[in-house]
Amino acid sequence: MRCNVEITELTEEAMVSVENLNVILGKKQIVHNVSFKVKKGEIIGMFGISGAGKTTIIRVLTCQIEKKNWTGNVLVTGLTPSKKTNYSKILSNIGYVPQLELLNLYFELNPMVNVEVFTSTYGMDKKAAKATAEKLFNILDIPKDTWKKRVKKMSGGEKKRLSMAIGLIHNPKVLFLDEPTTGVDASKRYDILSYLKKLNQQLNTTMFIITHDLEAALICDKTAILREGKLLEFDIPQSLINSLPSKGLVARISIESLNQKIINMIQKYPSIKKVLRVGNETIEVLMDDFEENLSKFMKFLFDNEFKVISMSRDIANFRRYFQIRIQEEEEKELGQNQIELMSDGGSQY
Ligand SMILES: Nc1ncnc2c1ncn2[C@@H]1O[C@H](COP(=O)(O)OP(=O)(O)OP(=O)(O)O)[C@@H](O)[C@H]1O
Ligand SMILES: [Mg+2]
Repeated sequence: MRCNVEITELTEEAMVSVENLNVILGKKQIVHNVSFKVKKGEIIGMFGISGAGKTTIIRVLTCQIEKKNWTGNVLVTGLTPSKKTNYSKILSNIGYVPQLELLNLYFELNPMVNVEVFTSTYGMDKKAAKATAEKLFNILDIPKDTWKKRVKKMSGGEKKRLSMAIGLIHNPKVLFLDEPTTGVDASKRYDILSYLKKLNQQLNTTMFIITHDLEAALICDKTAILREGKLLEFDIPQSLINSLPSKGLVARISIESLNQKIINMIQKYPSIKKVLRVGNETIEVLMDDFEENLSKFMKFLFDNEFKVISMSRDIANFRRYFQIRIQEEEEKELGQNQIELMSDGGSQY
């Protein structure tokens, strides 16, 4: 695993610091030895397929899991998350935008009354709260004519942005967001991401986003990849991509009647490092010394009379990196299982 730990990190303020976090729920270990640090002003994206343990980690950080269920050194804005001791202090330091807006919005009330309800729990001055709300609503392009209308009449995207404004109303040091783009249509997803970036830049709010949406990496300073409760990577997305063979240069090749046998042959070609099937007749290959080996590899395909329909070159994005990294882990596990199966079989004789 590559970990981008710089000397400066030791001196800069860590908003979230997690060392050797283990979480057990029921009888199952959900999170295994996870460590990472989030510096002031950073946007961190935590990615992982369903069941990886993302929400569990956010629940530890936001005091929603009892201390008896986890071990490790965890600090959120310098405080150990605990409902018994630091709950109200941590809650005033953090904002939380849940996956479903109805969990932090009252749909029958208008946005301004929602702000009043929420800020009264923090004992915030009414006038100051209103001024902050107006500022946030403007940054988030929440149309002025909706400010005094019931939330249920707002569009999906407006509700999502209002939910973010509510999460930020008390000017928290860290904003935790659970799946901010889920349920938002494709064209609006980019809008939500650019609003988050804008908020981060204008307010210098540290953000911790958990998501399935690999496009979210576009706005992240660092990305964490979680699989089955284990942190596989935690680094700058571009550094992860650069760690691929030939810094992530990819040849996308369509071959008529592509099948597993052809893929297996390609996989055995010496310079080929990875083969991903990305369509019925399309693969993407990564190789060492791309510029030198691409033409040799294409010659190999023609010599073997594979019917190449098209070939284009590209550079891997974070989505590709994620797929490659997860596939690598699955192959490792498969190899491990096969070894175990073989040794089990051996012991019978
Ligand atoms: N209270 C609990 N008791 C027992 N197991 C739990 C509990 N909460 C979660 N789990 C299990 O922990 C694992 C991780 O769950 P978690 O919700 O953290 O995953 P996730 O990465 O957020 O998934 P998703 O992307 O689907 O939201 C799952 O296998 C889940 O069944
Ligand atoms: Mg989840």
